[in-house]
Amino acid sequence: MARENTSRYPWIPAFTGNPVVPYVPTREEIIDVVLKALDLREGDVLYDLGCGDGRIPVEAAKKYPIKRAVCVEIRDDLIEKARERVKEAGVEDKVDIIKGDFFKVPIKDATAIYMYLLTSVNEQLRPKLERELRIGTRVVTLDFQIPGWKPVRTIGGSGWQRTIYVYVIGESNKKRRPFF
Ligand SMILES: C[S@@+](CC[C@H](N)C(=O)[O-])C[C@H]1O[C@@H](n2cnc3c(N)ncnc32)[C@H](O)[C@@H]1O
Repeated sequence: MARENTSRYPWIPAFTGNPVVPYVPTREEIIDVVLKALDLREGDVLYDLGCGDGRIPVEAAKKYPIKRAVCVEIRDDLIEKARERVKEAGVEDKVDIIKGDFFKVPIKDATAIYMYLLTSVNEQLRPKLERELRIGTRVVTLDFQIPGWKPVRTIGGSGWQRTIYVYVIGESNKKRRPFF
């Protein structure tokens, strides 16, 4: 696996381990539902952590007046696919592609996050999300919840790629007060 980073983000350490989540793309038919759940507004900065072929950032950049979408992915082949997709859609000015490990890539400027990962990985990412994200940032996950957080909204029902969890920093991760 190549170890280079995009020249735009030279400070991000290159990924040296193995992917922790397999590649399963979000179905084309539910992309619009995901984007709606993200509640994207003018000026938003959307990160897809483990973006695969970049379908979510590209569609977001095409359809919403966001400032920027950032696609974070460790697999070279998928980075290549994402680059092609961005070029085909003509959204190079709005989509950044970062080859790197989502545990290490800074996400401080995000106002919306999408994650189609696994419950165990969401749990491992939770401290990073709590540390780096600002109050009011939306975090949307597909199929897998973030343990310890309370969704402000759950869309859909049971079955594969049918449940979308919407979290908001400051509300979903509020610590419960002790009873006394
Ligand atoms: C289930 S797929 C979701 C792809 C895309 N978000 C979508 O919804 O179509 C998870 C993605 O995370 C990537 N991934 C796994 N571990 C990663 C890591 N540590 N850092 C960055 N990406 C990772 C995988 O290569 C895969 O493309």
